[in-house]
Amino acid sequence: MLEDGFHDVPQGKLAVVVTHLEMCSRMPLRDVPTPDGVTLRKVEPTLNWYRDIFNRVGSHEWLWYGRLKKSDAELQAILSAQETVFYTLSKDGHDEALLELKFGDDQECELAYFGLTPKLIGTGAGRYLMNHAIRTAWARPISRFRLHTCTMDSPQAMSFYIRSGFTPYKRQIEIDDDPRLIGLLGSEAGPHVPIIS
Ligand SMILES: CC(C)(COP(=O)(O)OP(=O)(O)OC[C@H]1O[C@@H](n2cnc3c(N)ncnc32)[C@H](O)[C@@H]1OP(=O)(O)O)[C@@H](O)C(=O)NCCC(=O)NCCS
Repeated sequence: MLEDGFHDVPQGKLAVVVTHLEMCSRMPLRDVPTPDGVTLRKVEPTLNWYRDIFNRVGSHEWLWYGRLKKSDAELQAILSAQETVFYTLSKDGHDEALLELKFGDDQECELAYFGLTPKLIGTGAGRYLMNHAIRTAWARPISRFRLHTCTMDSPQAMSFYIRSGFTPYKRQIEIDDDPRLIGLLGSEAGPHVPIIS
C-alpha cells in the first residue's frame, strides 16, 4: 500500500499513471465519412513495417517503447499470433495509423495499440478508425472491449476514448527505465517528458 504524498522516482526511471478503460456492450456508432484521400487496410505486418509505423505513430512523439524492447523472434510471435489483427490508414501512398486488436480466450478484446501519425491527427481519421475498431471487436462474441492509456500518451487520448464509449475503471502507476537512457529511443523523443539524468 502506497502512502499518500510525493514519492521519489529512481534516477533513470520514468513513472506514469496508467488508466484502464472498458466497454462492456457495443456502443451505437455515429457514422462518419471516410476522411479525404484515406484508405483503411488490413495488414499482415512484417517486422520492418510494424517497427516503422510504431515509431512514427507513438515513439517519437509519445515515447511508446514497449514493442521496441522485443527481439525479432518475440515481435514476430506477436505479429503472427492468430488472435491479433492489424489495420492501418493510408494517405498519399503512406501508412499513417496503427490499430492493433488482440482477442483473448476470455471473450475479451484488447485495443492493444491505437494511434495516428501527426499527418492524420485532427482530420477525423481517429473517429473513423475507432468506429472500425469497435465494429471489428464486437463482430466476435466478446463481452468486454478494453484498453489502457497513460500520462505519456497524447492529452487528447483520454477524452477521445471516453467519447468513444469506454469507461475508466482502474488506475495504476507504472515505473520503468527511461527508454532514451537505455538506447531504445533518441534523446529528442518525447519532448513533453524531459529527461532527468
Ligand atoms: C488519440 C487520437 C487517436 C485522437 O485522434 P484525433 O486526431 O483527435 O481524432 P479525430 O480528429 O478523428 O477526432 C477528434 C474529434 O474531432 C472531430 N473532427 C476533427 N477533425 C475533423 C474533420 N476534419 N472532419 C470531421 N470530424 C473531425 C472528430 O469527429 C472527433 O470528434 P468526436 O470524438 O466527437 O467524434 C490521436 O490524437 C493520436 O493518435 N494520438 C497519438 C497516439 C496516441 O496517443 N494514441 C493513444 C494511445 S493510448
